[in-house]
Amino acid sequence: MIVPDARSLRSAFGRFMTGVTVVTALDARGKPVGFTANSFSSVSLDPPLLSVCPGRSLSSFETFATCERFAVSILAEGQEEISNTFAGYKGDRFARFAWTTDAHGVPLIDGASAQFSCGVHARVEAGDHLLLLGAITALSDSDRPGLGYLGGRYFSLGLERHARDPARINICGVIVEQGDSILLEPAPDGYQLPHLHLTERSGLREALADDLARRGLNARLGQVYSVYDDTRSGTHHAYLLATAAPGPLPSGLEAVPIARLGTLRFTDPSTARMLHRFAEEARTRSFTLYLGDTETGDTHPERP
Ligand SMILES: Cc1cc2nc3c(=O)[nH]c(=O)nc-3n(C[C@H](O)[C@H](O)[C@H](O)COP(=O)(O)O)c2cc1C
Repeated sequence: MIVPDARSLRSAFGRFMTGVTVVTALDARGKPVGFTANSFSSVSLDPPLLSVCPGRSLSSFETFATCERFAVSILAEGQEEISNTFAGYKGDRFARFAWTTDAHGVPLIDGASAQFSCGVHARVEAGDHLLLLGAITALSDSDRPGLGYLGGRYFSLGLERHARDPARINICGVIVEQGDSILLEPAPDGYQLPHLHLTERSGLREALADDLARRGLNARLGQVYSVYDDTRSGTHHAYLLATAAPGPLPSGLEAVPIARLGTLRFTDPSTARMLHRFAEEARTRSFTLYLGDTETGDTHPERP
């Protein structure tokens, strides 16, 4: 064993698989504040209690150190962009996503797996964090699977399990943004997204990350964007978002401006529909997750 320091603690704490929540409150002027937290824990059924740990370095720390009420939204699969926003975006975090309020005006994130409205039960000084215990006064629950977090990365257990069903042919693809463009493969009968057929039982993300690296593309994978079954061919499709650093393109890929996507011909209508949605959502950077088949499905969170 070693004496703990910040680096070893971060690494060891990061081995604990968690979900992701957004913790919200109203500041002294009544303005919504919020941050991403994986320090959430269930505490007690009777009375109903939960806990979360706001760090002292949060710009909203004073609010969480003094507020009488707060709320916790457990993020669902596909809500990675919301987590990233509440972990780092410096502008108006609440202008980017749909939300409602609890009976006390405290924001709750739409499309979350579960939402809790809390009064403050107790505060415990805890080093560079505060242990905030909430007395749950109202909650909402859904069957949406929660977003996972492990070792600094997101995972979507429900989707990845589904996509790795060995009885299916799995087609995994990626919408790679590079500046104002996305990267497409020109094919004889139209454009297609970079994709691969997943035959092994290896992870979806790892397979896609390896494929992009093999093509010589320095890209960061983001949220799961579309998961659907092709009802005619019986194939299963999963597409993720990714961002590529500026730089030369590997052969076989073309950078096409997002604004031009509507004018292109694609090899299959599902890709055309998915990229039409992408172009629309890229305007507000408010990306949803499509779950369904080639005929019908839903976007999560539902668009207003
Ligand atoms: C997955 C994840 C979990 C996090 N968990 C916590 C947490 O439990 N407590 C905390 O204080 N910060 C946590 N953070 C960091 C805060 O979200 C981040 O520092 C905060 O949003 C910065 O807000 P500010 O710009 O208002 O200071 C987490 C970040 C991520 C990405």
